[in-house]
Amino acid sequence: MTEQHFGPVTQWLSGMPKAELHLHIDGSLRAPRLLQLAAKHSVSLPYSSVAEVEAAYDFSDLQSFLDLYYLGASVLRDQEDFYLLMKDYLEVCRVQNIVHCEIMVEPQTYLPQGVELAVVLEGFDRAIAEAKSDWGQSVGLILSFLRHLPEADCIAMLKAADPYREHFCAIGLASAERDFPPANFQALYREAAERGYALTAHAGEEGPPSFIRDAQQLLSVTRIDHGVRAVEDEDLLNQLAADRVPLTVCPLSNVRLCVYENMSEHRIFDLLDRGLCVTVSSDDPAYFGGDLLENFAALESDLAMTKDQALLLVRNSFEAAFLPIAEKIALDDRLQDYLARNP
Ligand code: HPA
Ligand code: ZN
Repeated sequence: MTEQHFGPVTQWLSGMPKAELHLHIDGSLRAPRLLQLAAKHSVSLPYSSVAEVEAAYDFSDLQSFLDLYYLGASVLRDQEDFYLLMKDYLEVCRVQNIVHCEIMVEPQTYLPQGVELAVVLEGFDRAIAEAKSDWGQSVGLILSFLRHLPEADCIAMLKAADPYREHFCAIGLASAERDFPPANFQALYREAAERGYALTAHAGEEGPPSFIRDAQQLLSVTRIDHGVRAVEDEDLLNQLAADRVPLTVCPLSNVRLCVYENMSEHRIFDLLDRGLCVTVSSDDPAYFGGDLLENFAALESDLAMTKDQALLLVRNSFEAAFLPIAEKIALDDRLQDYLARNP
């Protein structure tokens, strides 16, 4: 959907300062850049054109997506690649007025290619520093672990990241959910808490509602990535609402990965209406057909999102951010300023 085709609520949102809290940087690697880097490093891929790449993005579940996602990330090899990847996404932030973003970095993904965390962060740092000085972009990085790998490997990566502790605001847990429950990662989260990281985890995307509860109780997370399967458990819904535990919901992702058959079945506004701190993010925009605004546009076109609902989703994203309170107040001031000019 191009901007001129957005409905009135999404057009109003487009100029509004917003936050995106659930974005895998590898999931922002678009087809042209993917092909460029594959050619640069002589990585052979089963596609030779942008159209072929995009035609392959037809997923039946989370695992069918992850197979292509890790294949795509395998073209990232040197500092310049990571610079370009981050620069491309931060340019989306600039264009879509995503004034604060929290980005998942998954260093274990690059280890099979022999790429060290120092190389990854060198490239990312350069792009982030430019975006900060060019237009004041606010960025948090989330050190995200791959749950299909043994916990001991995750802990080894956490320790390898100790020299870069100040680069990250939080840790997260991603990849295949169903066979890799939160209970497997209690030592990892204990170690991360001792290091002062904020804690989030994917839970309740494909996994059952009990994984959401376990992420809270066993891992002490204060935010849940996805969490949409909470709708299946009344007690859990009441508790998430009472405690204002944020959910980073990714509507286009949920449809593309067949969590819902189509957007009209998505329950995001049930969650919001029940008082949960629901936010909207794009997850893996290169794979799921849209950035943050396109996610809002789908909510407007298929679920008749109102201005009040849209504003609440944006306010929630500021509340849910891993930011000091003074910075949240500053974001809110920018929002008030926008609303005064664009009621
Ligand atoms: N779920 C789990 N892991 C992921 C996802 C997701 O939606 N996207 C990238 N890694
Ligand atoms: Zn995700």
